[in-house]
Amino acid sequence: MDNAMEPSAGGGDRVLVTGGTGTLGRLVVPRLREAGRTVRVLSRHRREPTEGIELVAGDLASGEGVDAAVTGAGVVVHCAGSPKGDEDKARHLVEAAARAGARHLVYISVVGADRVPVASAIDRAMFGYFGSKLAAERVVADSGLPWTTLRATQFHQSYLKVARQLARLPVVPVAAGFRFQPVDAGEVAARLAELALGPPAGLVPDLAGPRVHPMADLVRGYLRASGRRRPILPLPLPGKAARAIRFGANLAPDRAVGHLTWEEFLADHLAGGSQRQP
Ligand SMILES: NC(=O)c1ccc[n+]([C@@H]2O[C@H](COP(=O)([O-])OP(=O)(O)OC[C@H]3O[C@@H](n4cnc5c(N)ncnc54)[C@H](OP(=O)(O)O)[C@@H]3O)[C@@H](O)[C@H]2O)c1
Repeated sequence: MDNAMEPSAGGGDRVLVTGGTGTLGRLVVPRLREAGRTVRVLSRHRREPTEGIELVAGDLASGEGVDAAVTGAGVVVHCAGSPKGDEDKARHLVEAAARAGARHLVYISVVGADRVPVASAIDRAMFGYFGSKLAAERVVADSGLPWTTLRATQFHQSYLKVARQLARLPVVPVAAGFRFQPVDAGEVAARLAELALGPPAGLVPDLAGPRVHPMADLVRGYLRASGRRRPILPLPLPGKAARAIRFGANLAPDRAVGHLTWEEFLADHLAGGSQRQP
């Protein structure tokens, strides 16, 4: 894989943002730029360079291109992620960052990573994400690099995606007893940028959205805002991970510090509340 732009060594103030093309990372990048930092973005895909942002092609799953990406980056903000394999991606990144002498590694994890047990095949199939985030957290903490990890609840965008998919069905299934606490990705990005600009802080207090909603209410809110009517069918989910979530392992009610609500997010994203989204 070729680099879209050859990174230069040195530059202790340069910040590498992995996942700088994703929902969260693309909101972190401008905040670091506004703070006067030179920003480099790692992506698997070659892209046209953008004003003031270095773009480096690489794949954290294979490790290809990662050494070049970390060269000269004093701070690494690790926002790249996918439903599976975040432990391996984190390992490739921290090993390269340690070789390059990075001063600070900032990681975004998920609330519940340490409380949702991924014990059985059923847990792994449905909630393996939590296990993979916890494993990645440990890779970061054991890296020997100074680090900061922030756990956030799921972003509004994630629920919107799920709600859109579920609303294609004539009857909308929801996980019985599940509650969620969606948070604004922009607010998480602002906190992550603040942490990246500060000293390494270890595991910092969670960042969660302003309200806890039963899953059925989140879906009802989407159906209402998008002008649809569907019956909702609560279904019990098996396994220890699902049980932990029914007991609130994915929530941080004492850290409900986010401001933007689900309803406000929907109003912003569904153009006045009546537009039907695909
Ligand atoms: N979404 C949520 O609700 C939520 C909540 C809490 C924490 N988080 C965490 O926040 C992080 C970002 O989430 P997001 O929602 O912004 O994700 P996203 O929109 O799906 O974006 C994923 C990003 O990861 C990059 N990426 C994926 N695999 C990669 C690989 N093998 N090598 C290099 N880059 C790779 C992608 O870059 P390219 O496609 O350009 O290569 C993309 O920029 C993740 O660690 C996630 O676990 C998310």
